[in-house]
Amino acid sequence: MSDLQIVADALRRARHLVVFTGAGVSAESGIPTFRDALSGLWQRFDPGELATAAAFRRDPALVWGWYEWRRAQVLKARPNPAHLAIAELARHVPQLTLVTQNVDDLHERAGSPAVIHLHGSLHQPRCFDCQRPFTRLAADPQEPAKGRRIEPPRCLQCGGPVRPGVVWFGEMLPEQALQQAFAAAESCDLLLSIGTSGVVYPAAHVPQLALDSGAVVAHINQQAFAPNSPREHSLVGPAGELVPALLQRAGWQ
Ligand code: OAD
Repeated sequence: MSDLQIVADALRRARHLVVFTGAGVSAESGIPTFRDALSGLWQRFDPGELATAAAFRRDPALVWGWYEWRRAQVLKARPNPAHLAIAELARHVPQLTLVTQNVDDLHERAGSPAVIHLHGSLHQPRCFDCQRPFTRLAADPQEPAKGRRIEPPRCLQCGGPVRPGVVWFGEMLPEQALQQAFAAAESCDLLLSIGTSGVVYPAAHVPQLALDSGAVVAHINQQAFAPNSPREHSLVGPAGELVPALLQRAGWQ
C-alpha cells in the first residue's frame, strides 16, 4: 500500500488530528521559506542583523523596514490549496488542532479558526519597551523595497518603539501556545507535519512528541524524510497537491 493511502486511512480513523505547519505550506502562495537553497530568506539575509532584540536595539529602522517588507508580501498573497485543504479537514475529523510556526495569516484567511502561532505574527506588533499591543498598523502598508529602512511607529502609551510581534532568535516562545501545542501532540492519534525543515526548537519537538505518544506521523514535504518508526511516513511533493490528494483519498472531496 502506498504511504499516501496509509496516511489517508489513518486520517479517516483519526479522532484528534494535529496539523503542524512551517514555511513550506505558504511557499506556493509566493511567501519565501527560510532555508530553501536558492529562495530561502536566511540564504539572502543575516538573521543576526534582522531577527534578534539586539539587532532591533542597534538599528530599529532596518529591522522594522524588513518586517514591513515581509508583511506587505503576505498581504498581497492568497491562501493556496494546502491552506484551503487544511481548513476543509476540520469539517471531517472530530477534533483538529492547527499549530503553525508561520507568522503570516494565510491559515486564518483560508478559514481555519483558533490557529496556534508558535512564532508570533507579523500582524500583531507590540511596544518594545512596555509590551503593550500596537493596534494602528497600516492596513495597506507602503511596499518598502527589501532592506529599506523605515522608522518604527511609537507606542501610544509610553512612546517606546514598536516591534514586530514575532519571536526572535534567543526569545522564549509564547508559553500558552507552546503548552497547547505540546498537549495536543501528546493526545492526538495523527499528526501531519507540513512544509517544515524541523530544525528550530522547541517547535520541532511537536512531531516527535506525537510519535513518542503513539500517534501516526506523516511528513509532507518537497524533500524526503527518513522515517525512524513504522508509524512515521514521508509524502514527498508540494503541499498544495498532497494535502488535497489526502482529502480525496480519504473520500472527502
Ligand atoms: P524552513 O525554510 O526551514 O523549511 C521549509 C521546508 O518546507 C523545507 O523542508 C522545504 O523542503 C519545505 N517546502 C518548501 N516548499 C514546499 C512546498 N511547496 N510543499 C511542501 N514543502 C515545501 O521553514 P520552517 O521549517 O518553517 O522562525 O522554519 C522554522 C523557523 O525557522 C521559522 O518559523 C522561522 C525560521 O527562523 C522564526 O521566525 C522564529
